[in-house]
Amino acid sequence: MSAERQPVFVLCAPAPRRPELRDALQALGRVLEADGPERVRQVVRQERPDLVLLHLAGGDDMLALCTELDQALATRVVVIGPSADVGSIRAAMQAGARDYLGEPITPEELQASVARLVQGERRTRRGRVVTVFGTKGGVGKSTLAANLAVVLAERHHQRVALIDLDLEFGCVATLFGTRPSATIVDVCRRSGAFNLGVIEEAMTRSAHSAVEILAGPPTPDLAAFVDGEGKREPDRNYVQEILRVMRGSYDWVVVDTAVDFGEAVITALDEAERVLFVTTPDVPALQNSAKGLDILLERLGYPQEKLQVVLNRGNSGIGLTSDEIAHVLDHPIHFSLPSEGDVAVRAANLGVPLVRLRGRSALARSIARVGASLMENRDRGRVSAIAEVR
Ligand SMILES: Nc1ncnc2c1ncn2[C@@H]1O[C@H](COP(=O)(O)OP(=O)(O)OP(=O)(O)O)[C@@H](O)[C@H]1O
Ligand SMILES: [Mg+2]
Repeated sequence: MSAERQPVFVLCAPAPRRPELRDALQALGRVLEADGPERVRQVVRQERPDLVLLHLAGGDDMLALCTELDQALATRVVVIGPSADVGSIRAAMQAGARDYLGEPITPEELQASVARLVQGERRTRRGRVVTVFGTKGGVGKSTLAANLAVVLAERHHQRVALIDLDLEFGCVATLFGTRPSATIVDVCRRSGAFNLGVIEEAMTRSAHSAVEILAGPPTPDLAAFVDGEGKREPDRNYVQEILRVMRGSYDWVVVDTAVDFGEAVITALDEAERVLFVTTPDVPALQNSAKGLDILLERLGYPQEKLQVVLNRGNSGIGLTSDEIAHVLDHPIHFSLPSEGDVAVRAANLGVPLVRLRGRSALARSIARVGASLMENRDRGRVSAIAEVR
């Protein structure tokens, strides 16, 4: 694969220990230093590092942070601590650490552990996750997610999975004219670890495209089995596990979402390389979108580059220009899709993706441009939004 980015490491250790550890890590990749848990969280969300190294002397809460990184942010952690301290080793492993390195550590030991873990991680991180999100109902999230998946699969010959994480009222399968015989609920109700076979059994194929669909729950009450009170094992993040397995086998995992900040959607946002944030040019949508973007950028700490705003029905405006809309949102508009009700609604009613039904329409061509842009940028490393502290 071309131009894969160099590994990125986050190092959280007491100041006197840092230079030596950093120098050893720098032989393998880029090192970002963090001076405490808050900074680690921020850097992890922004940079999606390959590995986080936490020194137990970095603070009391290092093990809690390790668990959080492992479970909530899908990030691998190596813990560094006192040698031969069986209690610390056990505690680190229980907290989800992938390795425990007892001090003193030689640079070679550190590098061997890190290289092994990064290679394993890379093998399971082949695909890209694109999450289609927005903070207003009916703006076109599902239409974009479904048709983008078709564009990537058929025009770019990619293996594409489409997941419906609008867990209460999702309609992705309907857009493809299929009636799923199994859904994401069947995956989440299984015991034991998920593997691709388990997930593939629950996926639906459509006569109208090569996209493989993991449909949402058939009724809203079943959503609780995926990310709510009905979870078989409450401590597991099923959506994260599913996305991680899928990215190992699909080139692209396209995620459709609901307007909420529940576990499933936040996980899909965290896991994504790219978030397509859909809005429309009407005041209620723009107001909610400005609030939503603020949450993604300020509260969740995503870098600007992770988000691309898609202005749907851009030509049906309220008299605002694109520049004015970008100003209201305080974010550039990356893509504009035209309003074509006869294409979008007709395709939805027939259960055939519009890029297939009306491939030459302006709307289909605009969605194809979004797909082409994702393909062009798929291997580009993230531009750091934060200064590296060296
Ligand atoms: N560019 C467009 N031109 C005309 N109609 C469109 C366009 N995009 C979407 N629509 C129509 O708008 C309606 C809402 O679209 P869609 O279901 O994709 O939105 P959504 O954001 O997923 O909604 P929800 O929040 O309910 O999940 C549908 O009837 C769809 O066919
Ligand atoms: Mg929808």
